[in-house]
Amino acid sequence: MTSISDFDDSAAHAVDMEHKIELDLVEALCLEVRNGKDQRAIASALQQLSDYTETHFISEELLMRLNMYDSYAEHVKDHVHTLEVLRELSINHALGTSSLVSGKIVSVLEFITHHIATHDRRFSEHLLRQKMELNYLYF
Ligand SMILES: [Fe+2]
Repeated sequence: MTSISDFDDSAAHAVDMEHKIELDLVEALCLEVRNGKDQRAIASALQQLSDYTETHFISEELLMRLNMYDSYAEHVKDHVHTLEVLRELSINHALGTSSLVSGKIVSVLEFITHHIATHDRRFSEHLLRQKMELNYLYF
């Protein structure tokens, strides 16, 4: 039988998979920047990362709201910051100042990795606690 608890499990698993894809896309961009030869490939990797990140954040924020996550506002500040930095990188790259992209991409990778290890982990623990409370109440 499907329950709220089952939904939360599969949603949490989907978010974990999204984090893996997110990190893979950042690493792909780092690789393109390190190669530094193909400006179109860098632009494409940057666009893919930005689009995916925005979609992932929408999905994660919806899950937080559905689960009445008490640190929602604090968590979303990190998301907003990440999207601003990615937008800034895209603009710099489009203006031909790609050196700014290579100078910042490592800090973007570190920021996203830190976000996943702290904020996203805290949210996963929140989901786990909620699941345990629901199991206690209904079973
Ligand atoms: Fe997040």
